[in-house]
Amino acid sequence: MVNPGVKLRSFGAMPILLVVAFLLNVAPTEAFFRHLCFGELGNGRVDPIMAPGQPSQHLHVSFGASNFGLDPTLDDLLVSNCTSCSITQDHSVYWAPRMYFEHSNGTFEMVPTTGGMTVYYFTESGENNVSSTAFPQNFRMIAGNSLKRAYYGLDPYPPMAAWKPSDMTQQALMEKALGFNCMHYDNGIPNEGSLEHHGMRDKSFIDATCEDGIRAELMFPSCWNGKDLDSDNHTTHVAYPSEIKYGLCPEGFPVKLPILFYETIYQTQRFAGMDGQFVFSNGDPTGYGYHGDFLCGWEEGVLQSAIDSTVCTSVNSTGLQEDCPIFSLQDSAAATQCKMEVPEALQQEQIDLVQDLPGNIKVQAGPEPAMMPGAAPHSAAPSEPANATAPSAAAEPTLPPVTATVPTTSVSPTVTSTPDSSLAAADGQITLTSTYMSGTLEVHMILVEDIVTVTVSETAAPTAAPLKRHIHRHSHGNRLV
Ligand SMILES: *[C@@H]1O[C@H](CO)[C@@H](O)[C@H](O)[C@H]1NC(C)=O
Ligand SMILES: *[C@@H]1O[C@H](CO)[C@@H](O)[C@H](O)[C@H]1NC(C)=O
Ligand SMILES: *[C@@H]1O[C@H](CO)[C@@H](O)[C@H](O)[C@H]1NC(C)=O
Ligand SMILES: *[C@@H]1O[C@H](CO)[C@@H](O)[C@H](O)[C@H]1NC(C)=O
Ligand SMILES: *[C@@H]1O[C@H](CO)[C@@H](O)[C@H](O)[C@H]1NC(C)=O
Ligand SMILES: *[C@@H]1O[C@H](CO)[C@@H](O)[C@H](O)[C@H]1NC(C)=O
Repeated sequence: MVNPGVKLRSFGAMPILLVVAFLLNVAPTEAFFRHLCFGELGNGRVDPIMAPGQPSQHLHVSFGASNFGLDPTLDDLLVSNCTSCSITQDHSVYWAPRMYFEHSNGTFEMVPTTGGMTVYYFTESGENNVSSTAFPQNFRMIAGNSLKRAYYGLDPYPPMAAWKPSDMTQQALMEKALGFNCMHYDNGIPNEGSLEHHGMRDKSFIDATCEDGIRAELMFPSCWNGKDLDSDNHTTHVAYPSEIKYGLCPEGFPVKLPILFYETIYQTQRFAGMDGQFVFSNGDPTGYGYHGDFLCGWEEGVLQSAIDSTVCTSVNSTGLQEDCPIFSLQDSAAATQCKMEVPEALQQEQIDLVQDLPGNIKVQAGPEPAMMPGAAPHSAAPSEPANATAPSAAAEPTLPPVTATVPTTSVSPTVTSTPDSSLAAADGQITLTSTYMSGTLEVHMILVEDIVTVTVSETAAPTAAPLKRHIHRHSHGNRLV
């Protein structure tokens, strides 16, 4: 794109004017769009893929269609009355374990997100030269493995050119398909690449460096066997291509799906200087057991039309969902109002400021795989404990419903007057950020209410190479008009 695009978007009478500026003077070479899931749908032990019909072992934070629950059918999802994401024809649900902070006194406190999750749909054809096929309705898959507590290789790992065959097994690719990115928008330290660090970062490093939090990242497999909507352990009907995102699909997986990539920012900086550790709701302080789930509820034909439309996902695409006329969009004010109905079995379950993680999950640091209640350490699909409701919950009948304890970021409608200080002072105002590779350029985009910052960095290699060039630009909504 020779012409740098500046997109202004005002969604009617909402208090926050969302202005998206895209200040690239380079041609992005990837085909993709970002689906902005502005609000948390809910938090609770809900996982209809791993534990249909009953509370799941551990808690997840979810995004998407409001009829999400213990065992929603496709039809349930399609008639949801709202979604916490921006594209209203998408009734899918996206979920992942949530980050907590374990205080030194033993209390687990939810780490606030910056509000939502960015779900990338990368749609370019892979090296197999097969163009992307939309997920069929009711397609389900998980990425990652909740029981993992160790990583097979070096972290960060050498660039792809140095990979050996053992680095390209499905297991090794899966372990590299997640990342924990140290966010610091204004301190001059080069930004990290997506999926560069595969384990959770040290608390002391986070305190000293990650002043804008930690972004949990997860890339899903994108090669499909073309037949099954799901599989026994929810991972074997799909496979990673040889380079996680790019490369060749293995034999038996001829269909190229869009590449899903989840980004969720946790405000870890709120716990700076406090004794304790960050731990995910599955009892994982290492990050290697981070995982995510996807249940497809797109209205028939919409996703494929977007993939096929050069406007929506062409190789010159900006990735801005506003550029795609096929999508019906809602604003963040509407999206953040959308909450799931907490299943009855969980309504009394306390999920924040608790002495045990929900489901009585114990923290297990590994390196051996985690033992979960009722599951052998290497079992593919851990079974559920016999009784769904946490024993501790029954004794406290007056606890608030699950959604009542969702930490929310207070969003100020006030426009900050100086762009430079706005980012430094942006704690709690940053809605979403995203990072993607565009050829050798790494593009960082930050939405701070009405302010968008785009940072373009040139990298020598598509992985963790040192940054050579660094352009950092701020724009202010008011001044762009
Ligand atoms: C992308 O942009 C380049 C440079 O402007 C142009 O030559 C090319 O035709 C564009 N491709 C598509 C598919 O629009
Ligand atoms: C959506 O449905 C839920 C449950 O049926 C209900 O509580 C909620 O008020 C509805 N929301 C809207 C915006 O209609
Ligand atoms: C533990 O410390 C945290 C942070 O100071 C506090 O919020 C929590 O109430 C404490 N828990 C107990 C059981 O005292
Ligand atoms: C895909 O297309 C490119 C360019 O035409 C070609 O070089 C490459 O060999 C093709 N790959 C496969 C797997 O057919
Ligand atoms: C799923 O099953 C396959 C084949 O048995 C195994 O290689 C893989 O590790 C399993 N995945 C998970 C997440 O359990
Ligand atoms: C499950 O609940 C039933 C009835 O509430 C109780 O009798 C039983 O002992 C419980 N089982 C376990 C494993 O806690």
